[in-house]
Amino acid sequence: IEARMTVRPGHPVGAIDRRLFGSFVEHLGRAVYDGLFEPGHPAADEDGFRRDVLELVRELGVTTVRYPGGNFVSSYRWEDGVGPRASRPRRLDPAWHSIETNQIGIDEFARWTAKAGAELMLAVNLGTRGVAEALDVLEYCNIPGGTALSDARASHGSVEPHDVRLWCLGNEMDGPWQIGHRSAEEYGTLAAQTARAMRQVDNRVLLVACGSSGRGMPTFGEWERTVLDRTWGEVDYISCHAYYQEKDGDLASFLASSVDMDRFIEAVAEAIDDVAARRGGIEREVSISFDEWNVWDVERFDALEKRTAIDDWPVAPRILEDSYSVSDAVVVGSLLMSLLRHADRVKAASLAQLVNVIAPIMTEPGGIAWRQTSFYPFAITARLARGETIEVYADAPTYEHPEHGSVSLVDAVATADAGGVSLFLVNRSTDAPAEVTVDLSALGVVALGEAVTLSDADPYARNTLADPNRVVPRTLTSARIIGRSLVVTLDPVSWSAIRLV
Ligand code: AHR
Repeated sequence: IEARMTVRPGHPVGAIDRRLFGSFVEHLGRAVYDGLFEPGHPAADEDGFRRDVLELVRELGVTTVRYPGGNFVSSYRWEDGVGPRASRPRRLDPAWHSIETNQIGIDEFARWTAKAGAELMLAVNLGTRGVAEALDVLEYCNIPGGTALSDARASHGSVEPHDVRLWCLGNEMDGPWQIGHRSAEEYGTLAAQTARAMRQVDNRVLLVACGSSGRGMPTFGEWERTVLDRTWGEVDYISCHAYYQEKDGDLASFLASSVDMDRFIEAVAEAIDDVAARRGGIEREVSISFDEWNVWDVERFDALEKRTAIDDWPVAPRILEDSYSVSDAVVVGSLLMSLLRHADRVKAASLAQLVNVIAPIMTEPGGIAWRQTSFYPFAITARLARGETIEVYADAPTYEHPEHGSVSLVDAVATADAGGVSLFLVNRSTDAPAEVTVDLSALGVVALGEAVTLSDADPYARNTLADPNRVVPRTLTSARIIGRSLVVTLDPVSWSAIRLV
């Protein structure tokens, strides 16, 4: 395969919001308990948080963490998780058919996010609850003191307010599985009322209305238009959620998942523009918060892990602990490229999730914490993709995808900041290397900074507890600057990052 490209620094696509590199921790499986929180672990700190996990989260470069759900939030009572631990109730979590012990709540999680160097993004429950409880949790978190709930917070040890700016107005309210699922009209009305009331308490908040929980939802498109219409002028973002997996052994189609993400984003941007054209004249621009995205074998969860029995309510069960291969990591890298390609419209995003549950970081109780393959493209992109996304013109051979038609075998995205240019490349071919030539003549003086790649002779190779470093990124030794061009060979099924300085 041969591909030719031109990088055009004079043509910015959009500024990259650092919130694009967010993640997500839900009270689900072993994400919190026996994940980031394990008081008996040798690496536990004074709060019971695992230091080794915190180190990996910082290395991953996560900027925001969405919490506490997900489906979990739609029946969550935030008050259960604050105050003296001994009196916190054990509750049923119907979303994941588990017991929630409430040993971690908002105060502890805010402390954990601060230690992780990330910003807390909270979701309010609009499933079993409404405006009143959203106002309560906002008062608890953001009012400095002198009211019942802010004083309660201080008495629980969080004297300073948590100052949470990012708030999700419910979770996946378009999904019939969601507790308290509503029609677009009902949800749009409730979200607008909640938003208006929350701003009356704290006008600094940034609010996310629920968009569709997938591009394949039967209500997709109509849902966005109705919800945006009802919440117009009241919200800052509309959400997108998407999970991808290899189906029927069709690796080539799976490697084109980012084309689906591109179309998803473009369709939602179009819905925003349509409503803007009709409604116009608002102070705040509505952006996209892609606040759940990843590779996830949902079918395995449904077939093997879903609990229903009346007497089966475990605490922190091992569920959704997907093991990620090299090809999964290549898709994760290319999904990040899709987010960057739409940096003008996507201003926040959350890799779902962070620890143990469909996660880049895994832990063993009493044992090690380790990096899945998907850790690497995220960490490298979060470190190198700064400033703004710039245009890349690419000319590469294509292949046929059953849904998306012609798909380029080589995909590329470039970003530019004061220190240089970063180039992210994917070779989607399952069997052929790609010889790529990138014309850099529009850039200033150019030298090769770092060049790394993730690939393997076995695209299904993965890291495991027994062999946690089986897959690690390698130096991309083929990368060279020749004259005013970058020349590089990309392995089949590979993701690469090149820094030009
Ligand atoms: O991330 C796992 C689940 O996926 C979340 O709880 C839900 O919002 C989505 O369906």
